[in-house]
Amino acid sequence: MGRVQGKVALVTGGASGIGLSAATLLAKEGAKVVVADFNVEGAKEVAENINAQGGEAIGMFLDAGNENSIKEAVEQTVQHFGTITVLFNNVGLTNLQKDLDVVNLDLEEWDRLMNVNLKSVLVGSRYAIPHMAKAGGGSIINTASMAGFTGDVVRSAYGASKAAVVNLTKYIAAQYGKDKIRCNAIAPGLILTPAAKRNMSQQVLDIFAKYNALPYHGEADDIGYTAVFLASEESKFITGQTIQVEGGHYIANPSAPDFMELMRQAQK
Ligand SMILES: NC(=O)c1ccc[n+]([C@@H]2O[C@H](COP(=O)([O-])OP(=O)(O)OC[C@H]3O[C@@H](n4cnc5c(N)ncnc54)[C@H](O)[C@@H]3O)[C@@H](O)[C@H]2O)c1
Repeated sequence: MGRVQGKVALVTGGASGIGLSAATLLAKEGAKVVVADFNVEGAKEVAENINAQGGEAIGMFLDAGNENSIKEAVEQTVQHFGTITVLFNNVGLTNLQKDLDVVNLDLEEWDRLMNVNLKSVLVGSRYAIPHMAKAGGGSIINTASMAGFTGDVVRSAYGASKAAVVNLTKYIAAQYGKDKIRCNAIAPGLILTPAAKRNMSQQVLDIFAKYNALPYHGEADDIGYTAVFLASEESKFITGQTIQVEGGHYIANPSAPDFMELMRQAQK
């Protein structure tokens, strides 16, 4: 028996990266999965691959920036599989050209990122919760980011939107816990998904590597497996939490790697 056998999961942004991993792993562990993405061809391909491996999935279009589209995805999930018991609100955008420091960031981009990264979590949850309550419970999982816990030189809107996702997670958990609906978030550090590779040069990756406690970068499955855990009954007493999956990048005194280097030099 799979770890999420019998559950019905809607995974947003499921055509690529973290969403693709979560959709695939949830299906492997017995969930029926709806893969929803702006890239509808990609979503259908992921669903076909899941079905070819003996799982059960469908792919569909979703625009996470549009309330009606999110509502439609939830309703179609229920229509097709009879209910929805797992919602992975995973879509999120960043824009290194326009989402800059506070003085220079583009205010329209601020609104767009708040809409896609934050409001989509609210709207998806709003439409899924009544179905989950009717089903006797459910698990909502939101993709936050370590950018929601720290300050940085750019991506102010992204960081603020993800910090808000962390707190909205607690509000949902507090409000619907009595309906046995849990809500948790995952805050990834750098994960080598297509988006990260697209956005980051080798120089940037090297900086991340230098400050990770672990000697490797994160991969999509590191988040996918965390999502399976949060979707499953293994986490049935965990709600309102954000699990940081970040390779120990943020755990030490920020100057620790430099002191380590100093000690290495002194031992020579
Ligand atoms: N990769 C990282 O290092 C990292 C770190 C922290 C947080 N995250 C978060 O993880 C989540 C997934 O990121 P990823 O790295 O897997 O990205 P990705 O680009 O590999 O996948 C994102 C998917 O979302 C889809 N998408 C984009 N906008 C959409 C919209 N409006 N409606 C529906 N689908 C849309 C894309 O088509 C794509 O398939 C995001 O919320 C991101 O902020 C990623």
